Formats: sequence, structure tokens, C-alpha cells
Amino acid sequence: MDIGGNLFHHGDCVEGARRHLPDGSVDLIVTDPPYGIRGDKLHKHYNRSEDFVVDGYVEVPAEEYGEFTHAWVAEAARALRPNGSIYIVSGYTNLYHILDALRATDLREVNHIVWRYNFGVHTRRKYISSHYHILYYERPGPGSRTFNANVRFGPQERDGEGGSLDYQDREDVWVINREYKPGRRKNKNELPTRLLVKMVQYSSKVGDVVCDLFMGGFSTARVAVGLDRRFVGFEVSEAIFAEGVRRMEGVEPGHLLEELRVPEGDRLFNQGKSWTDEEVQRLLERYDGLRAQGRTKASAIQELTGEFGRGRFAIANVLRDHGH
Ligand SMILES: C[S@@+](CC[C@H](N)C(=O)[O-])C[C@H]1O[C@@H](n2cnc3c(N)ncnc32)[C@H](O)[C@@H]1O
Repeated sequence: MDIGGNLFHHGDCVEGARRHLPDGSVDLIVTDPPYGIRGDKLHKHYNRSEDFVVDGYVEVPAEEYGEFTHAWVAEAARALRPNGSIYIVSGYTNLYHILDALRATDLREVNHIVWRYNFGVHTRRKYISSHYHILYYERPGPGSRTFNANVRFGPQERDGEGGSLDYQDREDVWVINREYKPGRRKNKNELPTRLLVKMVQYSSKVGDVVCDLFMGGFSTARVAVGLDRRFVGFEVSEAIFAEGVRRMEGVEPGHLLEELRVPEGDRLFNQGKSWTDEEVQRLLERYDGLRAQGRTKASAIQELTGEFGRGRFAIANVLRDHGH
């Protein structure tokens, strides 16, 4: 299904990737496969019958988890472009299968990230599990991997105690709470927007193709489109797919760009200086050019902040004053 040029496929991601993802066609994969922890209770041919769907969510039988993981990881590695990045979110139980499958490809480890979340399952006689693993790998290639250092915090920005905000944001333990939205229907295990924004911001550019092989609540899709990336993804459960498509409607491309924190420092190198006529003219031409390429207003302004070294409001004001 095509929604605004983004592609949502209902069906198994291994077969779907073979059919719909050409080699090297994806810039970034962010995905969160089924964890397989209830898999032992499921029938072998889980994806052929709605009986084996848990709350609409399709699990993978334990005895098939290794083989299944090898199959989808191989497809992910094939579809990723050279120098592309992949983030895989996993619990601990089946992590070894994912590591094993990754080692069977030419993908290379960049970081092992620990995501610490709130609302772990309470236990009395042992520690409470409150983290997931995020495996961040790259496909080797002749160029360099996209990593937008300082896209969130400038190199000079400090917290109240003098610590570097950029350093803290790029440590490999991420403390990000799950979202609790009372009364709202939600996919089991839906990833928080903040977590997804972080991965997409650091590892892709506006217009890049982002892929999620296991869409679930379409959270990766909403964030990717919200940040004006293109998107392609898969979901095998019919019920979850239908709900996800419904939630995609009304997601305006680029709308999250307006909410992003603008890092301070050398990115705003012209802040406070008055505009010259030549600079205004150049801004209007660049803006019209980006809009002609199909970029939304928000994403064009976002790009121009970096180029002109000025804040979003300053740019928006000049555009407004000149009838844009
Ligand atoms: C952990 S959830 C993904 C949650 C998602 N990241 C979110 O934030 O909502 C895994 C999803 O993969 C789906 N799934 C299971 N097997 C699949 C397969 N073979 N192909 C595509 N999707 C599959 C499940 O139905 C489930 O929705």
C-alpha cells in the first residue's frame, strides 16, 4: 500500500523483502523483531493461522527462531546500501540468535547500545529486568556511514554542572522512558518516539529511505515520515497492519522537524547578525528550489538553518516578510 509515496507491505518480511527491496536500496533499517519468548506455546505454522496471533501480534515459535532470524537478517543485509546502518532492538533471551545471524553476514558492529526503560516487570526474589539491547551495525562500503554528530547537541553545550550534553547524548546507555498514554490503543511493545527520533536523526538524512521489517504499531514509520524521510516496511498481522495504516493517515511529512531541538554553537554562526540583501535573495532562491524538489516547508527551513547559520524563526520570518 502506498501512502504519500511511502510503502507499507502486509505480509512476511522475508518474502516481502525478496520481492520489494532491491539490493542496496535502503539507507537505514530500524527494527524490533518479535522476541520469541512465548514462541514455545505456538504452533509451527504460526503465520498461516490467526489462532497463533497473540493480541493481533504474530510471535515466532521457539524452534524456528534461529532459522527465521538468519533469514530476515540476511535480507536486511542485502537490502542495505553500502555504508548504510541498521539498528536491531532485542531482549536478552534470543539475543544470541541475532548476534549469530549478524555474524553470518558482512555487516560490521558499530555499537552495542543498552536501552534502559521504566516499568520493568516487578519481581520479588531477583533483580528487575529494565533494559533492552540495541545492536547498531553498518554495511561496509567505500564511503563513510552517515552519522550526524552534533545534530542534537553542539560541541560546546553544557549541562548545569559543566558536563557535555553531546557526550551524554552519545553514550551507549540510553535512558528513555516508555510512553504511557492512558486510554489509547497501542501496539504491544511499541517503541517510544524519542528513541526512534534519536536513531533516525543520527543515522539518516532528509529524503533517505528508512525501513522497518517488523512494523507493529508503525512507530518507526511515523517517526521516519515525521522527519521527512521516505519509508518502506512490512507487517505480517492483518489486524495490526490495518490499525497501523489507519494511524498513518494524517501523519504530515516533516511535522516532527519543527519540534526538534536546534543545537547551539557553530551551527548558528550568523545568529544576531543583520541580513544582507544578497543573503535574503539567496535564501529565497534556495527555499524555492527545495520546495520545487517536493520538500515540505518545515524540512526546507530545517535544512536552511544549517546552511545559513540562523535559527528557524529567523528564517521563517524572512520568508514570511517576502510572501512565502
Ligand atoms: C516487537 S513488534 C514491533 C513493534 C514495533 N517496533 C512498534 O514500535 O510498534 C514485532 C512485530 O513483528 C510482527 N511480525 C512477526 N513475524 C513477522 C514476519 N514474519 N514478517 C513481518 N512482521 C512480523 C508482529 O506481528 C509484531 O507486530
